[in-house]
Amino acid sequence: MKTIIVTGGAGYIGSHTLIELLNKTDYNIVSIDNFSNSAANSYDRVKALTKREFQTINIDLCNENDLRQNLSNVKDILGIIHFAAFKSVPDSMADPVLYYWNNINSLTNLLKYAKEKQIKNFIFSSSCSVYGNADELPVTEETLLKKAESPYGHTKQIGEDIIEFFSKSNPWLNAVILRYFNPVGAHLSGTNGESPINKPNNLVPIITQTAVGKNSLTVFGNDYSTPDGYCVRDYIHVTDIADAHIKAFEYLVKQKNKKKVSLFNLGTGKGVSVLEVIKSFEKVSKTKLNYTVGPRRAGDVVAVYCDNTLARTELGWTPEFDLDNMMLTAWKWQQNLENN
Ligand code: WQD
Repeated sequence: MKTIIVTGGAGYIGSHTLIELLNKTDYNIVSIDNFSNSAANSYDRVKALTKREFQTINIDLCNENDLRQNLSNVKDILGIIHFAAFKSVPDSMADPVLYYWNNINSLTNLLKYAKEKQIKNFIFSSSCSVYGNADELPVTEETLLKKAESPYGHTKQIGEDIIEFFSKSNPWLNAVILRYFNPVGAHLSGTNGESPINKPNNLVPIITQTAVGKNSLTVFGNDYSTPDGYCVRDYIHVTDIADAHIKAFEYLVKQKNKKKVSLFNLGTGKGVSVLEVIKSFEKVSKTKLNYTVGPRRAGDVVAVYCDNTLARTELGWTPEFDLDNMMLTAWKWQQNLENN
């Protein structure tokens, strides 16, 4: 059976995608992760939810020799799903060079390897942050990209350009770029979810940690030019994101792609404010969330949400989780963490 390389497979979106790949496809799966923002026990949670074995390689993709040596005995590689990247907006503002170094070198090393081994199918994790503060909403895949508001978003803009230019000089490559909006929530079982090794920067894990007294939520500004003054995002369940990767991979393998590099927005298409997220969480958890409102956070986009028609029509993808269920799965996961 052919093999899929999943980079960042121990991470939040990567681990949820491993679960779907192992349970819904027959491909051999090799996960590469250096545990820079995850831990090896993430694989244990994947194993507990799946029936098949998978191989794991613990290397830094920025080390080209390690990449080549460790993949040398992996045969029949049909494609690469590249999740591995640093992804915090505030952390990227604090240390831009680290973000450019890590997110770009890992990508270029992988593309060089794909060229050496003629690995024809490549899926790249991009992000809604490539849109910057878009003039018009919802954004479509044709929306002109504004200047990125953070080094993180800029590394994703650069990554997309690298793939476009690489494809022009390597027409054998078929690539899909998936622009995630805000991935949130946890596996339906409540036994896998977001588990960064460092303190989270993202809204939803901070909400659930605040609810159990392990964190204290500060809302970064409520004086924005939005309907309720709070920032607006397009929150999308992590399992819906994982499912899109299965569909995107089949789209390439069955050669349904009309372009060498295909771009898709992965969001629900619904803009939701921070306050609406908090109210949804309070409803499903039946708890009152304590939080304070502080100053705006540097790097934050005021509002972004997408038109997801292309992913629906081209990939046959339909997001299944609504906001309440996103919050409910996140809460179930946090409670599971408290009980273990
Ligand atoms: C969401 C909203 C904050 C924390 C994320 C990922 C990025 C990319 C896009 C996939 C903002 C507010 C947050 C807090 C707050 N995803 N907030 N208090 O910045 O939109 O980017 O999605 O590639 O990888 O980082 O997500 O969850 O940090 O912020 O008020 O303590 O919540 O201001 O409006 P962001 P986020």
